[in-house]
Amino acid sequence: MTSVARYYLRLIFDFWIRSRLRRAMSVILPSLVPIVQPVFQNERKRVRDVAERMYDKSMETFANEVQAAFEAPVKHERLWNMSGKLQEEYKDKLRSSTISMLPSYQHTLPTGSEQGDVLALDVGGSTFRAGLIKLRGKAKDGDGLQVRRVRNFAIDERTRQLPGRQFFDWMASRIGEMLVEYNHMNGTTNARLQMGLAWSFPIEQTSPSTGRLLKMGKGFRAGHGVEGADLSELIMTACHSRGLNVEICAIVNDGAATLLSQAYRDPATRMSLILGTGMNAAVFLPVSALGRDKYGKRSDNWYAVAERVVVNTELSMFGKQVLPTTKWDDDLNSNHRLPDFQPLEYLITGRYLGEILRLVMLEAISTIGLFNGQIPERLDEPYAFETRTLATFESDRTSNLIDASAAFRSAHPMRSPPKLHELEFIRDIGRLASRRAAAYLATSLHALWAVRTSSEGIEPGEATHVTVACDGSMIEKYPDFRQWTQRFLNRLCSLSGASEGAVTLELAPESSIFGAAVAASCMAEGGGA
Ligand SMILES: *[C@@H]1O[C@H](CO)[C@@H](O)[C@H](O)[C@H]1NC(C)=O
Ligand SMILES: *[C@@H]1O[C@H](CO)[C@@H](O)[C@H](O)[C@H]1NC(C)=O
Repeated sequence: MTSVARYYLRLIFDFWIRSRLRRAMSVILPSLVPIVQPVFQNERKRVRDVAERMYDKSMETFANEVQAAFEAPVKHERLWNMSGKLQEEYKDKLRSSTISMLPSYQHTLPTGSEQGDVLALDVGGSTFRAGLIKLRGKAKDGDGLQVRRVRNFAIDERTRQLPGRQFFDWMASRIGEMLVEYNHMNGTTNARLQMGLAWSFPIEQTSPSTGRLLKMGKGFRAGHGVEGADLSELIMTACHSRGLNVEICAIVNDGAATLLSQAYRDPATRMSLILGTGMNAAVFLPVSALGRDKYGKRSDNWYAVAERVVVNTELSMFGKQVLPTTKWDDDLNSNHRLPDFQPLEYLITGRYLGEILRLVMLEAISTIGLFNGQIPERLDEPYAFETRTLATFESDRTSNLIDASAAFRSAHPMRSPPKLHELEFIRDIGRLASRRAAAYLATSLHALWAVRTSSEGIEPGEATHVTVACDGSMIEKYPDFRQWTQRFLNRLCSLSGASEGAVTLELAPESSIFGAAVAASCMAEGGGA
């Protein structure tokens, strides 16, 4: 045979052998599987068990670290000490600050006997609300404040873009619609209505019912070309050109509105708190508690009659040197557009609580393999984990946290569902962060109460009961939050020598609309001077 022929014979033989082998293997291998697989599976399970034990251990260690960091400052004695330091900070800013502890013109609280119909206006970032409110006097049934009509007008992008006077024309035409309804209801043709305005943008108030418009922010162009003009005049000019028979009697900010609306119902009201995505508080203080320069230019008439004044605290800005933070808070703060600007707000409000948790979770994912080390969808986006989602963890009473799991996975889809101990981990850390928020809030309010008490010359033990009027999604809806804040407040009050329950938190529903109405009727009755 030639070598060439031998070569081809080999090729054919190889091919035949290989195909036989392949056929043989395809029969043999599957029959081997039931024998081999359990061996491998057992091995895999063993490795997984070991890994999971290590993981549980490191998760436990991590959870303990987080717990220690959040709980360390939340001891009654320490909070009491922080309150003392906050009182110093408040007093300092009451003497001189142009951005916090700002006195309004409001120097009386409602008696609760004011009566009449008022058109209340509430301009916020995304809605303009207008309400026809009847004040009936508290002696009657209910709380004496009645909404007869309320309408929400969405401030869409197009409206937000209306420049200067065009925005106020838009407002006036909505006011006109409400007047038509009022006249229809009241059986009148041209009733004259007093208006109160809750304005949640910066203004420099110049009297109870006037104020210079400052930069609005939040995407609004209403200040365009009219910055520094008088807000009341802008609204009234627009209303007059439509022949509307209205008069603007009061302009209030959100904190003052909340205080006034609750004071109408409950004469013990001396403070207010707004706690939602953001926060603020107001307090009723003796005029002498503030430095004279803080009042700017005011008529002698005002000083002649004013004994006390509603103060807009801008409480969110306090606490930088007082409230202890964790590394996650510090991380949030240093990545913030305005680091250090609102230290208290960054620790307690709805905008930030979820974000603090997100930062803890990201660390747990990368260091101890939470969620198998995989970042769920969108969890790596700043502020993507909402406080609302965290709230479902705290309210979930099911043994396997199914509601929380569903809420979490719908906001942040992931390949395999979170395990129960991972869900419990999130819930427990959420609880730590929200308890601390309640503690810091209680401390800040206690300090405000203590400053008020001492500036009135009252010993804490003699202080009569004070109501704090509360509004905002966080204080209203976050599970157990108000109850926890109250508990911390009670302890702090008794440490001060006052009775537990010396200060109580009460919800003031619809506070902007009611507050604007109450302010207008106080002014109409000559309370403004
Ligand atoms: C708070 O505690 C520190 C140290 O323990 C102490 O020096 C300080 O005086 C306390 N401050 C107040 C206001 O109680
Ligand atoms: C509503 O009608 C009553 C009686 O018809 C009238 O006395 C009252 O002044 C009207 N309201 C306003 C704001 O004009």
